[in-house]
Amino acid sequence: MFDPSDVVGHVRNGMLPAHIYNDPEIFAAERESIFSRSWVFLAHESEIPQVGDYVVRRVMQNSFIVSRANDGAVHAMFNMCLHRGMQVCRAEQGNASHFRCPYHGWSYRNDGRIVGLPFHREAYGGEDGFSKRGRRLLPAPAMDTVNGLIFVSLDPQAPPLREYLGDFAFYLDYYTRQSPSGIEVLGPQRWRIKANWKIGAENFAGDMYHTPQTHTSVVEIGLFREPKAERRKDGTTYWATSGGGTTYKLPPGTLEERLRYVGYPDEMIDRMKRSWSAEQLDLIGRDGFMVSAASVFPNLSFVHNWPRVADSDDVLPFVSLRQWQPISENETEVLSWFVVDKEAPEEFKALSYKAYLMCFGSSGMFEQDDVENWVSLTATAAGTMAQRLLLNGRMGMLADGSTIAPALGADEWAGPGESRVGYGEYNQRHLMNRWADLIETGPPDTASVTVGTPGREDAR
Ligand code: FES
Ligand SMILES: [Fe+2]
Repeated sequence: MFDPSDVVGHVRNGMLPAHIYNDPEIFAAERESIFSRSWVFLAHESEIPQVGDYVVRRVMQNSFIVSRANDGAVHAMFNMCLHRGMQVCRAEQGNASHFRCPYHGWSYRNDGRIVGLPFHREAYGGEDGFSKRGRRLLPAPAMDTVNGLIFVSLDPQAPPLREYLGDFAFYLDYYTRQSPSGIEVLGPQRWRIKANWKIGAENFAGDMYHTPQTHTSVVEIGLFREPKAERRKDGTTYWATSGGGTTYKLPPGTLEERLRYVGYPDEMIDRMKRSWSAEQLDLIGRDGFMVSAASVFPNLSFVHNWPRVADSDDVLPFVSLRQWQPISENETEVLSWFVVDKEAPEEFKALSYKAYLMCFGSSGMFEQDDVENWVSLTATAAGTMAQRLLLNGRMGMLADGSTIAPALGADEWAGPGESRVGYGEYNQRHLMNRWADLIETGPPDTASVTVGTPGREDAR
């Protein structure tokens, strides 16, 4: 029987029991305690712009239809028929006013309300026998959006999404609100890797240390100006409430010069100046840092980089949103979206997409480099020797628990949270401490949730 106290103490000390990266009991505990409590990303609103548009996404094994109903509202509905449990929608995405269950043909409106049962009168005695009124596909226990990003939580008592994200919202805007219109997304590309889901989340949260080693070849062939070791260690890692990430240090210059340095055209810079707060602009213009990779607990990550896309020295930035969807203790489905500002010029969008595909996505060079490490790590973590090994996750921390690099002051770092220059596994520890807290807390109390009881809205 799994006892959380076997692992959480070590994790809080920055030492990681190696088997947590490939252990069915740990995976079961994550399903019950982490993914049943946290806010988990499902989709972006721009994926379902029209009435009737839908995508089907998952939180662990729980399939949800995310649809835009006839009234324009977004719904996240558990994709399981109220009759005998068939998956109501089998497509990955599409446009539909109704979903008809393939098994016996019960049908539901795109807001989840049941509208028809074959032979309702003969089989069920009509409305008197089985009232359709108030019956609907089970809604996600909690759903909320920020910058068009749709999240759900399986915990009906979850705190509001804004509260959950907390100060990370400040950093989220760099990726998802470069203009008042927000972003549009392309994708997701989906593929499976034989690696544990936590590795990607930790890597994107703060692993600046791997870049010069793992990604040597992309530096050597001259495609990327930035991943060099010197450039990486001059950057920062930051952590703010539920998420954190890495930055690069930019060369001296004004805000405009620094945004141009990473390849943004002037018209986009103008919109950024109108969309971001003085502090958000100061982090770039005054302090000279530009966000790169980041993760939000538990399994959502972002990346922003600016490779060369042509033979010239010019670079062009791209943003990607990605999710590490757990399949099992040793398999993860990666969902990777290309993200771009809706108002960006068409030429920028095309080149930025090219930049994304070169670096990330199923064919991206960074992606391929990374995954080889993660698969190898996961395979090795399954063995009995791994049960004796505590991995060292204490970079940046001295024996007494104090940190090597001081946290930057308000005059050096305009953003909220805690930030430090140089290599350190501060963020990985934040992420894994959060993991340990939930593993220890256990599953949410869902005993009080009565399934199938019509709510007030339903009874209309
Ligand atoms: S299981 Fe869906 S109609 Fe029977
Ligand atoms: Fe990497």
